[in-house]
Amino acid sequence: MTFLPLRSLTPTGSANIADAWLERIADRLANPRGDVAADRALLCRETLVELCYPEYAANWDTAVADGALPMGTRLALSALDPRNITLEPEFYSDCDDARFQPVKPLLWLWYSFDRTVLGGQNVTVGIRLRRLLAARIFKHCGSNFKAFQHVEFSFGYNMEVADDVVIHRHVLLDDRGGIRLGNGVSVSDYANIYSHTHSIVDQRDVTNVLTVLEDGVRITYHATVLAGVHVGEQGMVGASAVATKDVRPYHVYVGIPAKSVRVKPNAPEPCTILRTSEHRIPR
Ligand SMILES: CC(C)(COP(=O)(O)OP(=O)(O)OC[C@H]1O[C@@H](n2cnc3c(N)ncnc32)[C@H](O)[C@@H]1OP(=O)(O)O)[C@@H](O)C(=O)NCCC(=O)NCCS
Repeated sequence: MTFLPLRSLTPTGSANIADAWLERIADRLANPRGDVAADRALLCRETLVELCYPEYAANWDTAVADGALPMGTRLALSALDPRNITLEPEFYSDCDDARFQPVKPLLWLWYSFDRTVLGGQNVTVGIRLRRLLAARIFKHCGSNFKAFQHVEFSFGYNMEVADDVVIHRHVLLDDRGGIRLGNGVSVSDYANIYSHTHSIVDQRDVTNVLTVLEDGVRITYHATVLAGVHVGEQGMVGASAVATKDVRPYHVYVGIPAKSVRVKPNAPEPCTILRTSEHRIPR
């Protein structure tokens, strides 16, 4: 194995424009004009119109109402305002509207930005924008948060994120029952972390339960962590594994259902004692 720290890149030619653009968004988020949810909806709309339909930046309202424009164009324009779209959590009766409506415009901006030319795989601008948004979506967002493209949340407002957390592309963070991520947690591409589950008898019978990943946990590619699982400090869930029960600190779990296959060599002694049965998660 080779130790490969990340490289520092020289800023791109448009770095100063990116700085000013992000500063403008940060300033608007910090100083909302009037009602917070309404102002965030406007910010979301104005930002997306500029990125996607700049020719309508000055006359969005009249363009949406303009019968001479193709219906699809009017509908696409209207969808840039989060008040004109629905997100899945809005259908759930356990979604707290008082908490969700102020974060909805920020989630919509996040998801929509990821599908633009500026967003998508553009790492530097993307991480900085998502960091600004996460600070106002999550219950808590620590320093140095990094999210790559196409990360999805359920409610967003039930995320508790400590410092130096990295979430890679296409990760699903279902925070319906709450997700708590400790310092330095890393969630790899296409992983899924759940915090709600359904009764096997009646799908409408939903259990929300907090899922916790302690400090230093790594959930690797395509792995799934089910609702209520507690992954202990420095625990690791291997590629494509499904963690159905708690993961012991410093242990490496693989497979379906995930089982411990080794203890990290840096584990303190109490973590190296193997148990015959794993702790079952509450349902
Ligand atoms: C979890 C992981 C790191 C384990 O690696 P490891 O400690 O070197 O484990 P080994 O390769 O020695 O495997 C131990 C056993 O588990 C099995 N195994 C390893 N990873 C597995 C996986 N993801 N799914 C199923 N079985 C797995 C091995 O086949 C081996 O079984 P055996 O003893 O019957 O031969 C690795 O499998 C993995 O998932 N890597 C993902 C890539 C990665 O490093 N991601 C980090 C990004 S943050």
